[in-house]
Amino acid sequence: MSQPTFRDLERAGWTSRADVYDNYFAKITAQAIDATLDGLGDLDGKRLLDVACGTGHLAGAASTRGAEAEGIDFAATMVAQAAGNYPACTFTEGDAAHLPYEDERFDAVACSFGLLHLEDPDVAIREACRVLRPGGRCAFTVWCSPEQGSEMHQIILGAVKTFGTLEVDLPAAPPMFRFADPEECARVLQASGFTNVRTKVLPLQWRGPSPEAFMEMVEKSAVRMLMVLDAQTESARERIRKAILEGAEARRKNDEIIIAFPAMMVTAERGVRDIQSS
Ligand SMILES: C[S@@+](CC[C@H](N)C(=O)[O-])C[C@H]1O[C@@H](n2cnc3c(N)ncnc32)[C@H](O)[C@@H]1O
Repeated sequence: MSQPTFRDLERAGWTSRADVYDNYFAKITAQAIDATLDGLGDLDGKRLLDVACGTGHLAGAASTRGAEAEGIDFAATMVAQAAGNYPACTFTEGDAAHLPYEDERFDAVACSFGLLHLEDPDVAIREACRVLRPGGRCAFTVWCSPEQGSEMHQIILGAVKTFGTLEVDLPAAPPMFRFADPEECARVLQASGFTNVRTKVLPLQWRGPSPEAFMEMVEKSAVRMLMVLDAQTESARERIRKAILEGAEARRKNDEIIIAFPAMMVTAERGVRDIQSS
């Protein structure tokens, strides 16, 4: 039997986490929704596509701003949760790399924390450009790196580097923080037919009562990070877990643990020239 690809592991991971996603990760990603929609301009009466929509909160929020909002995700369970959360929006099962829409259908395309999970994000960016009308806007968010102040990644990746290894036997995948680099975003987006590329850091946070609650959030709702943790030896995993709990406790402020989880938001406009075909 052939080895699973990065896409296979991602799809299995998200499919099995959809039922608890809103209790954990969605609380963090929801903090970026308003800024992302603001980056798309006036949405009243506009057609918006939410790529890698998860449980549908960005599309749902867009519809309260008057948009005709649709979402697409490759995990059938996510699509079902999204449809349950926002019956007024349309949600479709499908891949970001092969959007099942005609050219220039949408006025706005968003992708909230999806790009870093894609096997070929360049193709997905070209697809987003293709389904946007000329002058239409796109906005996406990705996680900032440890060097850019992500305490979440400092704690977890720091523990793995110290007590385990990042050199694990996982299928090839694009670098996790590639699109947190504004220059790389500008390069890729411009090559795909976008103009006016702008970036902005959003100060997202995880807040909770205890280090154990932080660990639970990671274990219940992370996918890419969990692949790395699961690939460690059992004894390394124990030490990594302890280091993560200590790292979280070190961020205690009175009764709460507050962990910075900044995001890079990128906005751009589809240019009017012919786009490259994918
Ligand atoms: C971190 S979650 C983000 C969900 C939601 N957008 C949010 O902001 O909470 C990543 C989502 O990307 C979806 N996804 C990953 N790869 C995908 C692909 N190739 N095509 C469509 N969806 C994909 C997953 O199923 C998952 O729902």
